[in-house]
Parts: sequence; structure tokens; C-alpha cells
Amino acid sequence: MSIEDLEDIAQAMVAPGKGIIAIDESNATIKKRFDSVGVECTEENRRAYREMLLTAPNLGQHISGAILYDETIRQATRDGVPFTKVMADAGILPGIKVDKGTAALAGCPGELITEGLDGLRGRLEEYARLGARFAKWRAVINIGEDIPTGTCIESNAHALARYAALCQEQGLVPMVEPEVLMDGVHDIEVCYDVTEATLRALFTALYEHNVMLEGTILKASMVIAGKDCEEQAEVEDVADLTVRCLRASVPAALPGIVFLSGGQSDEQATAHLNAMNQYEDLPWPLSFSYGRAMQSAALKLWAADMSGNYAKAQQMVFERARANGLAALGEWEG
Ligand code: 13P
Repeated sequence: MSIEDLEDIAQAMVAPGKGIIAIDESNATIKKRFDSVGVECTEENRRAYREMLLTAPNLGQHISGAILYDETIRQATRDGVPFTKVMADAGILPGIKVDKGTAALAGCPGELITEGLDGLRGRLEEYARLGARFAKWRAVINIGEDIPTGTCIESNAHALARYAALCQEQGLVPMVEPEVLMDGVHDIEVCYDVTEATLRALFTALYEHNVMLEGTILKASMVIAGKDCEEQAEVEDVADLTVRCLRASVPAALPGIVFLSGGQSDEQATAHLNAMNQYEDLPWPLSFSYGRAMQSAALKLWAADMSGNYAKAQQMVFERARANGLAALGEWEG
């Protein structure tokens, strides 16, 4: 795998009007989602749910890739077709979550560090053999009183850079995700400052670890007020500050930026992306890599009729993909 191959994959991930569906919830996280709709979290239900999503008709029109979980990349449809084959046939690149989740960062109360570097080279080698073309690692930055600390931002940036370098060594495009959480009472200006500091540290670390930006994708959180902030920003302000923050901190050599939804409503996530794509002369395509904002409506429909006739749920996934695909072009009309 050469740098040109990595570049081709990265560019395909952010092809015009296409984005990523994140279905890489760990078993603990998908259990929370299933609990909310009264579905038991068994291996078979997780498999059936992911089959419903990945076989939604015409999904590949607006979806370039899907991020899977370790269990999912090894699963198949009820007829025995491996999910990776279903995806290849639909023109959807398989991605894989490779971090092992977060743990408390010792010495830094209230802050988290993402784990999973030990043994990562071997795991990446196996995922590449199973058909993965890109990988994802999520770092979490909490905003609160006196946090984030520089120690937290830099430790997470360092881990992201080590992960990204290993991915490229193994022929996988690293999707680097430093998520600044929406939890808290902070206003949008605080989110701007924290996001800018986080991204600056990340790109410094990627440079220091010889990561080729041309074969890397950034998964960013939007610059947005905390969920419990009394003053919520307008769509135009979120778009304006997010674009400004990214322009100030993300090198133009990057092939593309995709956003996480992070707890925004489906409609908000689409409206924000669409508003950002009204800006001219952006150095990179801006698209989506939504989990909840792609799935939540479909999950409810599927839970209501899991027995096999889930056409409505699949239609809903397609509709969300279509709306976000249009927003990636700045052509969504609400
Ligand atoms: P949300 O869009 O639900 O935030 O999930 C995206 C994701 O993959 C977080 O790592």
C-alpha cells in the first residue's frame, strides 16, 4: 500500500455528496441505545440491527464508508454473506473502530485518556486482512471548571498520532477524532478556544510522528454551546465559528473533514453541515460521520418491527443519508 493508495481511499471517503455512517458502538454503548427502545442487547440482535442498516437499499448513493465495531466486521447477513462483502457490493468502504475506549487520566481529575495502543499493530494487520480500509480512534475532551488541562489535550494528541502512524504503516487511512464534548454549561466561545487548542495540538503531534496528512481524515466536533448553556447559538453562528476554527487550525493538505453529531438532533446536525457548506473556497470538503444523527429514527422503527419487515427503518436510514449527502454539498433545503 503506497501513499497514493491511502490518498485515494481518503478522497473516496469524502467524495462529493457522500459521507460516513458510524455504526461502531461498543457493546456497552449499543446496549444503552437498545435499552432506550426496549430491545435486548444480544449478539444476534446486534447483528440483525447492523444488517438492517448495511443492506438499506441505495445506501451507497450517499454513504462512502461505514465504521464497524470488532464484532461487526466479523459478522454476516442472515443468509451468510459477510458484511464486508455486502459493503463492497454497495460501494461502501469498511472502516473499523480500533480504540479501546476511555479511562480516567491519572493525575488529572475529571479528564479522560483513550486506551488501545498496546498490541495495536497486530490488530490493524488483522483488520486490514478482514477488509478494513480505514480506522477510527476517538479521544474525548471534557470542558468544565479548570479543564481541559494541557496535559489532557497533549496526551490524547500523542495517542492519536501514534495510532495514525501505525494505521498508515498497515495501509489503513486513520480517521483521527478528538471529540470536544457538548456536556456542560460553557458557551460557544469557550468551545471555540478548546477546539482550537485541541486541533493545534493534534496537528503538531501528527507532524512530529511523520503522519502523512494527505492520507488522513479528521473527524471533528462542531464549535457549539454546551448542552446546558442558557444561550444556545443560531445555526449560522455554529457554522461561522466552526469554519473559522477549522481554517485557523487544520492544514489545507488534509483531504477532508467529517463531523460527529455528538448529541445534536438529526435536523440540527444536517442544518449545521449544510450551513457550513455555504462558505466558498473551503480548503477541504466538509462532510459527515454521524452515529446517532444517522441512526436514531431508524432504530425506533426497527425496534417496532424487528421480525424482518423493516423496509420503513431502511427507508429512514436512506433518508438521513440523503439529507446529509445534500448538506455536504450545501444543497439541503430542510
Ligand atoms: P455521534 O454522531 O453519535 O456522536 O457518533 C459519532 C461517533 O462515531 C463518535 O465516535
